Amino acid sequence: MSFTPVASLKGKSVCAASQFDRTDIDALIELARAMKAHIESGQTIHALDGRVMTPLFYEDSSRTLSSFCAAMLRLGGQVVNFKVEGSSVNKGETLEDTVRTLDSYSDVLVLRHPKVEALAQATSVAQHPVMNAGNGSGEHPTQALLDTLTISAELGRVDGITIALIGDLKMGRTVHSLLKLLTHNFSLAKVYLVAPAGLEMPQEVLDAVAADLTQKHIALEQVHALSPAIVADCDVLYATRLQKERFPAAAAGADPVAAFQKAKEDILINKARLESAKEKMIVMHPLPRVDELSTDIDSDPRAAYFRQMKYGLFMRMAILYSVLA
Ligand code: NCD
Repeated sequence: MSFTPVASLKGKSVCAASQFDRTDIDALIELARAMKAHIESGQTIHALDGRVMTPLFYEDSSRTLSSFCAAMLRLGGQVVNFKVEGSSVNKGETLEDTVRTLDSYSDVLVLRHPKVEALAQATSVAQHPVMNAGNGSGEHPTQALLDTLTISAELGRVDGITIALIGDLKMGRTVHSLLKLLTHNFSLAKVYLVAPAGLEMPQEVLDAVAADLTQKHIALEQVHALSPAIVADCDVLYATRLQKERFPAAAAGADPVAAFQKAKEDILINKARLESAKEKMIVMHPLPRVDELSTDIDSDPRAAYFRQMKYGLFMRMAILYSVLA
C-alpha cells in the first residue's frame, strides 16, 4: 500500500498553526485516517526505513513524546533516546549547540521547550526539519492538527460547529494553536472562550484571529463560566488544565492558582454539567487532566479525550511521513 504524502510539508519544519492551509489539513486528515485503518488492520509500514528522529524534550511529556516516537517506529524509522536530564545541557551547553549536535545525527528533530523563543533558536541552526512539540505558552501545532482530526472523525465535520475552549486560555498553548487553526481554515458557527478572570485568551491570539472571525462571520463570546446554555449550544467542549508551571511563584498581583481553584466550579466538566449537552457532541482535553475534568464522564460515549490521544499517533504519522517521505 502506498500513501500520498502532503507535498507542501516535504522537508519543512512544523512551527505554528498559521503555516497550514485548508488543503494541507484535509490531506493530513485523510492520510492519518488511511494510516489508522492500515495499522488497525494489523499491517505494518516501512516508508521511513533507515530514517532517524531525535526528540529534544526540555519539558515533561507523556502523550506528545511517546506518540511522536511510536509514529516514527510505526513508519519503520528509528528514534534516538536523547534525554535532557543526564546530558551536557546540565554542563551549561546552549540550546543551539545541543540542537546542532542532535541535528547532525538525525533526519528530523522534535522539540519541546519551556521558552517560546527556543523554537526559533533551534530552527535557525538545524539543517533538518524541527517539529514544534510545544514552545512555552506559545504554540502546539501538531496538537491542533490532531484535535482537528478528532473533531472531523468524531462529528463528521468541522465546518459549522460551535466549540467552547475552556480553562487556562492564557498559558495553554494547545488552545492558542487550535483557535488559530480552526478560525483560519473552517467556517465555525461560534466560539466560546470560557476562562477564569486573569486567565483569558491573550490579546495577541485574539488579534491574530480577528480578520478570520469577521470575514467568516464567526461569533466569539468570552465568558467566565460554563453555563447550561453554553453547554447546550456546543458541539465540542474543549477543556484544559491550569498551566501551573508557567506562572512564576513570585508573580506580583493576582494569584492564578488561587483564581483557578476559586473558578473551578464555574468551568468543571462532569456528569451534572453534561445534562444540558446535546446527544451528539464531544468532550475533548489535550490531557493531562487534573481536576477540571471529572472521571465521572469517562464512560459517557461523548467523552472523546482518550480517543483524541490515540488520533495523535496517526496524525503524527501523517506529519512525519509527509515531512520525510
Ligand atoms: C499539553 C501541552 O503539553 O501543552 N499536553 C499535550 O501535549 N497533550 C497540555 C498540557 O500540558 O496541559
